[in-house]
Amino acid sequence: MKNIALICGGKSPEHEISVRSAKNILRAIDRSLFRVILIGIDRQGRWRLQEEGQLGKFVPAEGPQLALAPGNATGQIIRIDNHQPIEQPEAIFLILHGPQGEDGTIQGLIRILGLPFVGPDVLGSSVAMDKDVAKRLLREAGLNVARGIVVQAHERHSLDYKKLTQEFGSPIFVKPANMGSSVGVHKVKTAEQFAAAIEDAFLYDTKVLIEEMIQGRELECAVLGNENPQATKVGEIVTAEEYSFDAKYESEDAAKLLIPAEVSDEELGRLRLVAVKAYQALNCEVLSRVDMFLTPEGKVYVNEVNTLPGFTNISMYPALWEEAGIPYTELITRLIRLAISRHEARKRLKTGWRE
Ligand SMILES: Nc1ncnc2c1ncn2[C@@H]1O[C@H](COP(=O)(O)OP(=O)(O)O)[C@@H](O)[C@H]1O
Ligand SMILES: [Mg+2]
Repeated sequence: MKNIALICGGKSPEHEISVRSAKNILRAIDRSLFRVILIGIDRQGRWRLQEEGQLGKFVPAEGPQLALAPGNATGQIIRIDNHQPIEQPEAIFLILHGPQGEDGTIQGLIRILGLPFVGPDVLGSSVAMDKDVAKRLLREAGLNVARGIVVQAHERHSLDYKKLTQEFGSPIFVKPANMGSSVGVHKVKTAEQFAAAIEDAFLYDTKVLIEEMIQGRELECAVLGNENPQATKVGEIVTAEEYSFDAKYESEDAAKLLIPAEVSDEELGRLRLVAVKAYQALNCEVLSRVDMFLTPEGKVYVNEVNTLPGFTNISMYPALWEEAGIPYTELITRLIRLAISRHEARKRLKTGWRE
């Protein structure tokens, strides 16, 4: 029996999605192998020990607050109310999305505690989160990414919409470099929409991407592993009307997941190869979902790599593995094992103080 701390919630706008994923994991995790310690990060960012039944739509602002004491072999996570350490976790299952969840910050904190955790390490998490840096690494690996420019906040007033459309066509996409779940992402067709989109995108980041629109099918591939990452078949996101974020995230039936997507064997082969190359180019480990476009001419583009993808039992990532013959419960076990084996490999390195 291993103690696993499941950490969910967080300050990101994706708090609710994280809690939904956590509830599914709680229902499915193999209780003959793992004992779960539930840690919720409330919307203010406070860490709290939770009872499993306490999770609602959000992590409630109740339950003992926790403090971290790095350096101890055990007992690094301490209840503030009675100063007692909580049961020592042997690994951490992070199920957080967006800023401070999949951007390397919490990964750094957990590395300081010296515990294995699910998801790419600090470097992979942060480069995948930053769409600007990620695109540069993907391009360097010989993969196709949308053409575009990166604008810093202080340069925003020099933008010329007409010039941009001459270079990148219309519509164009405007998006913050570091966000998720389409927050701040806009597809624009007019100068007015463009001005509003820029205004909005800069609410979320000091760096914004302006991109050509890639006309194509949206296909996603689930990748799993450390040294030898394995890729599933691809799933497709099908939206009923013209692209709309509401369709994708608000209403359950407006966006459909097709698993597996109908692609030729040749296309599937290329998509999987691109997915694994993207995973490796961004230093991903344990798991990531690689989101791609397939154009009518058969060209594959990488849109982005999500290092802690949605993980409810109907989310794309677990559904793709289910299709590949790995049920949800087994997938959870594999993720924890991969986290532990990466940690063991790192522990063997001569990086720390030795007596
Ligand atoms: N260059 C692009 N061409 C076509 N569609 C795009 C482009 N960029 C983003 N999109 C659309 O917007 C959605 C959200 O953008 P994405 O870059 O994936 O940001 P997020 O991190 O918020 O998911 C994508 O799933 C896709 O439908
Ligand atoms: Mg996306």
